[in-house]
Amino acid sequence: MLNVERIRKDFPILSRRINGRELIYFDNNATTLKPIQVIERVREVYENHYSNIHRGVHTLSMEATELFEDSLREISRFINADFEELIPVYNASHGLALASLMISMRFLKPGDEVIVTITDHHSNMLTWRVLSGIVGFKVKYVYPGAGGRIDLEAVESAIGQNTKAIAFPHVSNVTGVINNAKGIIEIARDRGLLTVVDAAQSVPHMPVDVRDLGPDFLAFSGHKMLGPSGTGVLYISRDLVNDLEPIIAGGGTVEEVTIESIKWLDSPWRYAPGTPNIEGFIGLGEAVRYLKRLGMDNVRSYEHELLRYLIKRLEEEKLFEYIEPVDKNSDYSSKTATFAFNIGDINPNTVASFLDMHGIAVRSGKHCAHLLHSHYGVDGSVRASLYIYNTLYEIDRFIEVLKEAVKNFIK
Ligand code: ALA
Repeated sequence: MLNVERIRKDFPILSRRINGRELIYFDNNATTLKPIQVIERVREVYENHYSNIHRGVHTLSMEATELFEDSLREISRFINADFEELIPVYNASHGLALASLMISMRFLKPGDEVIVTITDHHSNMLTWRVLSGIVGFKVKYVYPGAGGRIDLEAVESAIGQNTKAIAFPHVSNVTGVINNAKGIIEIARDRGLLTVVDAAQSVPHMPVDVRDLGPDFLAFSGHKMLGPSGTGVLYISRDLVNDLEPIIAGGGTVEEVTIESIKWLDSPWRYAPGTPNIEGFIGLGEAVRYLKRLGMDNVRSYEHELLRYLIKRLEEEKLFEYIEPVDKNSDYSSKTATFAFNIGDINPNTVASFLDMHGIAVRSGKHCAHLLHSHYGVDGSVRASLYIYNTLYEIDRFIEVLKEAVKNFIK
């Protein structure tokens, strides 16, 4: 069980008023708010331990290096990965782009195929499309089934003789639908495919264990799980991580360089050129400690309680007559606390601005998932995405404001 009242006290920004109202922050799939523990950790680094890492023998550099590496260890344990499997990157988009670059340049040739899904965020799709034009492989699309989920049968039947890799989201950033990632990875492995999992919307919301799931590549962002922006992780499985060569290299990635040869450092450093977001990763380590104290099972069940309450209230108030979920066959049993909807044909930005006038922050638009919106036949949507500090009271407020919106725009 989460002690939400206590959690809320850790988030200073929750005391902000927006347009004269108390802030209700329902835009957590875009980014989460930061607890005081993370804010203070980052400030503490700047005030006392800041220097470049892996670059010097002086005391500050060694302190910063130790704090940075300790944080990477903490983050790797959080997803049950080895230290060497965890590449520090800037966000999930960066990690997924690196994965597609490495796979395309090392493993793919003209005529090969890569599967992506219509439910993917652009970050797990567009770089593949760019690379397909350069390398000459084909991108194939899998469509979601009932409930917005990627069905295993659809994956099975999309795989052909030339299919070499599949990229898919663990959880949709628009609908919050949780895919059977383990099932998809098992099928892919049986058929000899490499797997790339966008875990940006799963790692912050539920226990994720890479040993259990078994992907080759998996990426997530730090800023969506209470950490600073500009931090992210690309996981590469230990079967590959020290055999692959980096595509993007530079300072801090090598043991020795001669005219004839390059001797790479072991992972993760061979994949992490230049100065990383040192203080950001130390802050992310603190965010991970915060989430671990709460317990990811508790986070998941609290979010489920929030979603169930939201749906119940929408039903009680008969708002479903006016509010259409983007995925009209939504099955609410296996979703994060995310709800994408439209009020009739009112522009989603208009609805989001109306909510903002009442202090409620949601995202509107196509949420970097244009193909998913086209699939559902809508131009965009309003998305409410909830997290550990949101409350049933805030849902009641949200419902009241939605009722006013319906009154204003529809009747
Ligand atoms: N990927 C983030 C979202 O879905 C920004 O809002």
